[in-house]
Amino acid sequence: MEKVKNHFEDEANEFDSLILKLIPYYREMVTSLVTVIPFDTSKPIKVLDLGCGTGNVSKAVKERFPKSRITCIDLAENMIEMARSKLSRYNDIKYQRGDFRELEFEKGYDVVVSSLALHHLPRDEEKKEIYSRIYDTLRKGGVFYNSDIVLGSSNYLNNLYMEKWKDFMLKNLSLDEIEEKWIPKHREEDFPVCLLDHLDWLCNTGFKDLDVVWKYSEFAVFGGCK
Ligand SMILES: C[S@@+](CC[C@H](N)C(=O)[O-])C[C@H]1O[C@@H](n2cnc3c(N)ncnc32)[C@H](O)[C@@H]1O
Repeated sequence: MEKVKNHFEDEANEFDSLILKLIPYYREMVTSLVTVIPFDTSKPIKVLDLGCGTGNVSKAVKERFPKSRITCIDLAENMIEMARSKLSRYNDIKYQRGDFRELEFEKGYDVVVSSLALHHLPRDEEKKEIYSRIYDTLRKGGVFYNSDIVLGSSNYLNNLYMEKWKDFMLKNLSLDEIEEKWIPKHREEDFPVCLLDHLDWLCNTGFKDLDVVWKYSEFAVFGGCK
């Protein structure tokens, strides 16, 4: 996790422009994540954003749910600082710097969201464990949605997704930068698993109404309700 932390400490200032060059349809993905939150937009819902980064998801939550009270957690101090600055007009957002595997979560959240963060957990057991902790932290009827990098169900699909991802990055970045920087970082720091496994684990944890609400190649938004 030290590598992941250092990566995002170093990248925080450029993150918002870089993410648009690296992740296809990033804005659409975040919009999908927030659009599926099924609550009255005038209510003061309690939200947890795991791996908040520079605050893009929390900002989208605040725009849709102006009275929401959000807790933002991130490993990297510099990412938290970017989020604080982006969300400075709101006084009902709490920030916690730390590893979400180790931090204790309050009880009674209406919503837990996470975007492009949980795939950094190296082991399947850690992913299952965080799903179980998310379930425990939600109130009954609360929802969890995750937008993340996932694997497909066959090598053929995974190779196809990787080619499509490289083609997308090539529109914005040089082949050298993709092959010498971003693909090696992906191999070292990202541990995506098959989308169907995520759904299985979420189902076994107790989540209901599970669905994949958006997908493009290896990027998916999925989740359900407690
Ligand atoms: C690719 S960024 C995504 C940021 C934001 N969610 C978004 O979609 O714009 C991943 C973020 O997750 C954070 N992160 C990764 N693993 C984490 C962990 N175990 N605990 C807390 N934060 C973590 C990183 O520091 C980084 O800021």
